[in-house]
Amino acid sequence: MKYLTYQQTKVPALGLGTWKAKKGEVYGAVREALHIGYTHVDCAPAYMNETEVGAALKEMTGSGQMRREDLWVTSKLWNNAHLPGDVQPALKKTLTDLQLDSLDLYLIHWPVAFKPEVALPKSGDDYLSLQEAPIIDTWQAMEECVAAGLVRHIGVCNFNIAKLEDLLAKAAIAPMMNQIELHPYLQQQKMLEFCRQRQVLVTAYSPLGSPDRPKGMKKKNEPTLLGHEAIKAIAKKHGVSPAQVLIAWGLQRQTAVIPKSINQVRLRENLEAAELRLEENDLRHIAKLERGYRYVDGAFWEMPGSGYSTKELWDD
Ligand code: A2P
Repeated sequence: MKYLTYQQTKVPALGLGTWKAKKGEVYGAVREALHIGYTHVDCAPAYMNETEVGAALKEMTGSGQMRREDLWVTSKLWNNAHLPGDVQPALKKTLTDLQLDSLDLYLIHWPVAFKPEVALPKSGDDYLSLQEAPIIDTWQAMEECVAAGLVRHIGVCNFNIAKLEDLLAKAAIAPMMNQIELHPYLQQQKMLEFCRQRQVLVTAYSPLGSPDRPKGMKKKNEPTLLGHEAIKAIAKKHGVSPAQVLIAWGLQRQTAVIPKSINQVRLRENLEAAELRLEENDLRHIAKLERGYRYVDGAFWEMPGSGYSTKELWDD
C-alpha cells in the first residue's frame, strides 16, 4: 500500500469512496474492501449511509480482523453545521454513527453554509452567507475538536486556492488536506503545485468520472472518462482496465484517490491499480486530456438569493 506523508502521519493513498453507495449495499462493500486490504474509508453524513459504514467498521475491528489504528477514516462536516456551536455536535453524531471514538480526518465538506435546520436548500433563504458563517469561525471549532481528541487531523474539501490561502493565513492548525474533484479532464495542476508548496495533501474525488451520480446532477452529453479512447488504449497496452489507469494516474501524482465501488470484482480491481506503473509516454497522453471539466460543478448551490456561485467557488 502506498502512503502520503504529512509530518509524522502516513495516509493510505488509496481509499474507498462511499458517496452514492446505498444503504443495503455499503455495509457489504466496506466489509469486503477492508477484508481484501483497503485501509482507508472516505465517509460523510451527507452520503446518508454512515450507520451502515459504521456497522462494517465495527465488525472488522471488533472481531479482531483489523486493528483500528491500521485504518484511516475520514468524514466531513455538512453545510448545515458551520456555526461554531454546531461543529462538535455534528462530529459526535458522525462518531456515533461510525461507531468510532475518533476520526483520522475531518473535513469541511463545502465552503458553503446552510441554516442549521436545512439539510438540502430549496431556496436562497436556506443559506447563510460566508459573512454570517465565516470559514475561520467554523475552522476554529474544528481545531477545538482536535484539542478534544475527537479527530486527529482536519482539512477541507472543494476549496479554491484563494480560500485555502486565506485559511492557511489565519488557522492555528493548518489544513492537512484539500479533497477536490480530480481526474484527467480536470487535472488541477495549479492547485497541486500550490498544495505541494504549502504542504497541504490532496485527495482526488470522482476519479472515475462519477458515472453513477443522480440524473439531476448530470449534464447532457457528458464526456465519459472510462470510455475515452486514450485511456482505453493505455489500459489495453498494460493489460489492465480503464479504471485502473485512472486510479494509477492519481496515485502517481502523489494524490490520495478514493474510487467508489460496491462490487466485489471492481473493489479488488481498483485496489490492484496501486501496482500499475504508468510510463512517461502514458502520462504525456493523459496530460493532453485536460479540458477543465467538472462533473460536480457546484451549480446546485446557485439559486437566487443564495449568494453562492460557481464563479466564486472555483479558480477557473
Ligand atoms: P460500482 O459501485 O457498481 O462498482 P467515482 O469513484 O468516480 O465516483 O465512480 C464511481 C462509479 O464507478 C460507480 O458507478 C462504480 O460502480 C463505478 N466503478 C467503480 N470501479 C469501477 C471499475 N473498476 N470499472 C468500472 N466502473 C467502476
